[in-house]
Amino acid sequence: MKTIILAAGEGSRMYSKLPKVLHKIAGKTLLEHVYNTSSQLKNNHIIVIYGHGGQQVKTQLSTFKINWMEQVQQLGTGHAVQQAKAEINDDDTVLILYGDVPLLKKSTIQKLLTNVNAKTLALLTVVLENPIGYGRIIRDSEFKVIKIVEQKDATVSELQINEANTGILAVEGKHLKNWLSQLSNNNSQQEYYLTDIIEMAVADGLQIKTSQPETVDEVLGVNNRQQLSYLERIYQLEQASILMNAGITLRDPARIDIRGEFSNLGQDIVIDINVIFEGKNSLGDNVIIGANTLIKDSVIEADVEILANCIIENAIVGKGSRVGPFARLRPQAELADNVHIGNFVEIKKSTIAAGSKINHLSYIGDSIIGSCVNIGAGTITCNYDGVNKFQTIIKDGAFIGSNSQLVAPVTIGKNATIGAGSAITKNAVANKLTLTRAKQITLDGWQRPIKKNH
Ligand code: UD1
Ligand code: CA
Repeated sequence: MKTIILAAGEGSRMYSKLPKVLHKIAGKTLLEHVYNTSSQLKNNHIIVIYGHGGQQVKTQLSTFKINWMEQVQQLGTGHAVQQAKAEINDDDTVLILYGDVPLLKKSTIQKLLTNVNAKTLALLTVVLENPIGYGRIIRDSEFKVIKIVEQKDATVSELQINEANTGILAVEGKHLKNWLSQLSNNNSQQEYYLTDIIEMAVADGLQIKTSQPETVDEVLGVNNRQQLSYLERIYQLEQASILMNAGITLRDPARIDIRGEFSNLGQDIVIDINVIFEGKNSLGDNVIIGANTLIKDSVIEADVEILANCIIENAIVGKGSRVGPFARLRPQAELADNVHIGNFVEIKKSTIAAGSKINHLSYIGDSIIGSCVNIGAGTITCNYDGVNKFQTIIKDGAFIGSNSQLVAPVTIGKNATIGAGSAITKNAVANKLTLTRAKQITLDGWQRPIKKNH
């Protein structure tokens, strides 16, 4: 099987420097969506016809198994498919897809493919209330498809037809190659129309077997930013529905964005509004996620509560932990079970063992923090001298007084206490109070200055 994805068009109505197929839905390029769906079909070789912004398209999708064919000038859909002619074997089943039609479902393609054989051409059509711009499906008195007429070439009565061509079709390689060499551009747009092969197929005695997608949205293309945003919403609502079917409560399915996938989804998760998931995430049972939170490439274990307005990236949040509101977990923040991270706390490349608390206004970077440690408000690990990064180690049960600076490399011993406001530059001994603090004084004769003319 060969799939030819047409992706050479300019997309002028996007008004963009980016080739159209590189615009994204749910964080993935349009072309990637089409590629991913077709790569799920067995024994399928994927050919992409590229043109506009070609190098950019190839670079962006360089990790995919694609046979790239350049269409230097865009002379029509038939001309686009002609570029792949040398790659088509007689006994191939050839499927034609479009790089700017991202939501087509695998099941729709499979249904289409059941209609192809040596004597049939499979065509995906759709009935539209307003088919303006689409090629129309012309049927004879026995309801057999006899040809496709493009909008610009159609007669007034043909324009009344509501059955439209999606452009998606499948046919045997031997036939396709034969017809491709017969295409002409003798039409109103002076383009080589792929749609002309329908009439040739009928002339050669083939039957045109039509099928339809489950929903019209599946075959909608992206031509402008309005359509891009429309399909984004359709896609997101579908994702939301999948989550709800898996036993997850969404406060509003219209206000969640999933730009990636879940490696694991527990039960009875509750997700408030405006939550964004990026990359690969895992959510355990009973996780609660507050409003306006971004979670990227992270593992959130069971019974975790994330309060509103958090940013969590490449982090692990252990069972029963509580994070936020307004917390930021940066890459390699690893919280064990029952850890509390409060407001305006930033954690980077640090492990925090079970039961520890960092509740207010702190920066913890490059640190190893033991269990049941209490880090007071405003504590900062000073991990950077402008050139190098250093580690802070805080052992089990330590208590760090508020507004302390721990100048790394430094170790705070087990059950040690650091007095509030200390700048700690040397290791602090276990079980003892360590503090650096100027003595408090009171000046007896001092007077507050008084404003004149007052
Ligand atoms: C085409 C069909 C029309 C159908 C419509 C569905 C033809 C002649 N017409 O219309 O019947 O209803 O799709 O959307 O096939 N492309 C290339 N190279 C080219 C021309 C196009 O790669 O030279 C690609 C475009 O990037 C796009 C796709 O083919 O992904 C369709 O092209 P577009 O111009 O949007 O389709 P129409 O010709 O309007
Ligand atoms: Ca066109």
